[in-house]
Amino acid sequence: MNPVKHVAIIMDGNGRWGIKHKKSRNFGHRAGLNTVERIIKSTIKNKINHLTLYAFSTENWKRPKKEIKFLLNLLDSFIDQKIHEFNKNNIKLKIIGNISIFHNKLKKKLKKSEQLTKKNNKLQVNLALNYGSKSELINSFKKINKNKQNINIKNIEKNLYTSTIPDPDILIRTGNTNRLSNFLLWQMAYSEIFFEKKLWPDFNENDYNVILKKFRKIKRNYGNI
Ligand code: FPP
Repeated sequence: MNPVKHVAIIMDGNGRWGIKHKKSRNFGHRAGLNTVERIIKSTIKNKINHLTLYAFSTENWKRPKKEIKFLLNLLDSFIDQKIHEFNKNNIKLKIIGNISIFHNKLKKKLKKSEQLTKKNNKLQVNLALNYGSKSELINSFKKINKNKQNINIKNIEKNLYTSTIPDPDILIRTGNTNRLSNFLLWQMAYSEIFFEKKLWPDFNENDYNVILKKFRKIKRNYGNI
C-alpha cells in the first residue's frame, strides 16, 4: 500500500458548472469553494499531510477583469471566514506563487495567515496563487546563478517555492481536461495523475476516496522495474 503524503489538485470546471446551471461563471467559482472545504476535511480524515490547490495561475490574468476581481475577492473573504477555523483545526496555510503583485491589503492578509498558522502540523494547505511552474524554475535558476552555485537537482529544489514540501504523490485534475497547465512541472516528475471527468463543484468525498484507493494499489517504480 502506497502512503500518501501529498495530493495536488487542479480545480477545473467551475466556469462551465456555473453556465451549466444557467448562472454565471462566477457562480461556479463560489460553488467550487464548497468543494475546497469538503476536500480539506477528507484530506484530514485520510491523514494526508499536504494538499496543494491551484487557485490562480500566472496565465489566469488573461481572463476578463471582472472574473479576476471576483476570484481575488472570493479568496479574500475565504481567508477572513476560514483562517481561524484552520488554526483551530491545526491546519497550516502556505502560499506558493508570486503574490508580490497582489494589492497590499490582500498580500498582508495572506502573510498574516501564514504567520498565524505556521506552527500547525495536522495538514498543510498550499495555496497556489499567481503560480506558474516555468517562472518558478526560472527564478530558481536565477538565484543559483546569483549565488554562483552549481546547477544540480538539490540546488534547483532548494530554490523552489516548494523547497520544504514533499513532491506530490497524486495529481487530480477535474473538469474532463487532460493537461498540466504549468502546474508543479518539476515536482510532478513521478506523480500519479488522475484526470477526473466531473467538474470541480461536483467532485465529492467519494470520488476522492476512489482515487486514493486506486493510488494505493499502484506499483511505483521511479524508473526501476
Ligand atoms: C478553474 O476553473 C478554476 C480556477 C481558475 C479558480 C479556482 C478557484 C476556486 C475553486 C475558488 C476559489 C478557491 C480558493 C481556495 C479561494 P475554470 O473556471 O477555468 O473552469 P472552466 O474550465 O469551466 O472555465
